[in-house]
Amino acid sequence: MERIGVLTSGGDSPGMNAVLRAAVRTALAHGLEVIGIEDGYRGLLEKRSHPLVRSSVSDILDRGGTFLGAGRSRDFATAEGVARAAEILREWGVEGLVTIGGDGTLRGAQDLEKTSIACVGVPASIDNDVAGTDYCIGFDTALNTIIHDVDKIRDTAHAMDRIFVIEVMGRNTGTLALYSGLGCGADALIIPEVDFSMNDLVCRIREAEREDKHHFIVVVAEGAARGEEVGAGLAELVDKEVRVSVLGYIQRGGAPSALDRAGGSRLGARAVELLEDGRHGVMAGILGDAIVTVPLEEATATKRETDPSLYPLVMTLSP
Ligand code: F6P
Repeated sequence: MERIGVLTSGGDSPGMNAVLRAAVRTALAHGLEVIGIEDGYRGLLEKRSHPLVRSSVSDILDRGGTFLGAGRSRDFATAEGVARAAEILREWGVEGLVTIGGDGTLRGAQDLEKTSIACVGVPASIDNDVAGTDYCIGFDTALNTIIHDVDKIRDTAHAMDRIFVIEVMGRNTGTLALYSGLGCGADALIIPEVDFSMNDLVCRIREAEREDKHHFIVVVAEGAARGEEVGAGLAELVDKEVRVSVLGYIQRGGAPSALDRAGGSRLGARAVELLEDGRHGVMAGILGDAIVTVPLEEATATKRETDPSLYPLVMTLSP
């Protein structure tokens, strides 16, 4: 193998740059040439790429987002798109590809693998919803961002005796909400994996008030309900001020955490080693503290399940 390509696709997540830096520098250290494909599969179809050298990835470890750009491509999600992408990679002499992103990106890698392009995926998504890995790059940073933001909101909740409904991202899964609920001591949690009743929520708030607790934090996963709707519903039923905060894209940006930098560096390096060893059609993931290799088929067949024991824990620990 003489030349590999790297790309980041789907939604950006903090730590993608750490993966890129490690993949590029590992490849160069092993005598491979590296091509950086811009803006994910969309840039690939538009034939946008440039060679990467050591200095191309200098001073990016601490930066959120991805210096190569990311994005979603409808054209690539067709059989013609995949065939065209494979043709372009062959034209460029790219024999192996490291694809960094969430489940859509990994499915793209699986499709390219079927056209005989050797692919290794690295899971990166704040949603942490990829099967076969405990952990996707970006999740930890997003979690820290949420926790710091909720801490600030709590100051006002406490000072003004208010109920705050805080909507967090996570697409269809409640993992981000669940772990942030645990980390920030949410008083109630609404996630897609658990049935929700407005009556139960109101009872919980009234019970807390009887025990002299007058502020309340409700964390809502975007995949379960809209924060605005929950807030409006609550305001009709309780005799307290209710405010809603939708944290939005603030959760996806910012300097990556230590865990995302370290995990991203380990996975980026491993992805290149796997390509060199001829072990492709796989994702490099993390189970416990070990770097593992998971067939792309397995990683994309299902979503990573949310740990069911955590919901009752959050509810028991608060209010
Ligand atoms: O998958 C990451 C994510 O931030 C989700 O949490 C969110 O639902 C979605 O992307 C938003 O997508 P877009 O960037 O297309 O608005």
